[in-house]
Amino acid sequence: MTAPLFSPAFRASLDQLFTWRRDVRHFRTDPVPEAVLSRLLETACLAPSVGLSEPWRFVRVDAPARRAEIRENFARCNAEALTGHSGDDAQRYATLKLAGLDDAPHHIAVFCDTNPAQGRGLGRGTMPETTVWSAVMAIHTFWLAATAEGVGLGWVSILNPEDASRTLCITPDWQFLAYLCVGYPAEQADTPELERRGWEQRNPARRQWINR
Ligand SMILES: Cc1cc2nc3c(=O)[nH]c(=O)nc-3n(C[C@H](O)[C@H](O)[C@H](O)COP(=O)(O)O)c2cc1C
Repeated sequence: MTAPLFSPAFRASLDQLFTWRRDVRHFRTDPVPEAVLSRLLETACLAPSVGLSEPWRFVRVDAPARRAEIRENFARCNAEALTGHSGDDAQRYATLKLAGLDDAPHHIAVFCDTNPAQGRGLGRGTMPETTVWSAVMAIHTFWLAATAEGVGLGWVSILNPEDASRTLCITPDWQFLAYLCVGYPAEQADTPELERRGWEQRNPARRQWINR
């Protein structure tokens, strides 16, 4: 089979996709069609994985009681995080919106099977954490594919992972990685929200090679 040629126009569009991918915390409440969500999951599964182990597990969270528990989990952890800041910093932290759990029509928890039979252990003998890295690559692929479909994704990590796993009745051999809010964004931006809100800025030094 002949691999496709990616034109300069395609590359320019791809660059736009990377530039406009955002962590979204403000959602419209209308649902994303199931066909689109299925397509995103299919695309996520094109991600590379150690030994072809495909250790990602995407869990749809629809039950209102489970969503409520996750919201409470977030509220507890976010309140706790606030206590780690003081003065102006605390005030600024308190004004940040760090999850779209109330409005996002779709909630997806992502776990990593840390000891998958698939892949037969290849590549992770010296670095077992490569299963987690593989699952994170699938999340990123999902994120970019979502952006291309006009769908927003917000990654929520301000959660107690053990409590989240308990809420979702997940066995201990699956490691909790992410809780994703998914839906159509209420606003678009080519700059991270944390930068727009004055919390942090992208650092030009990270665009420099380190040479040895
Ligand atoms: C592993 C990971 C965890 C994150 N957790 C949170 C979170 O709990 N709440 C939040 O508002 N954003 C979270 N983010 C989003 C980052 O804040 C965001 O990616 C960063 O500010 C850059 O913005 P951008 O994604 O729009 O480019 C997380 C991102 C990653 C990669």
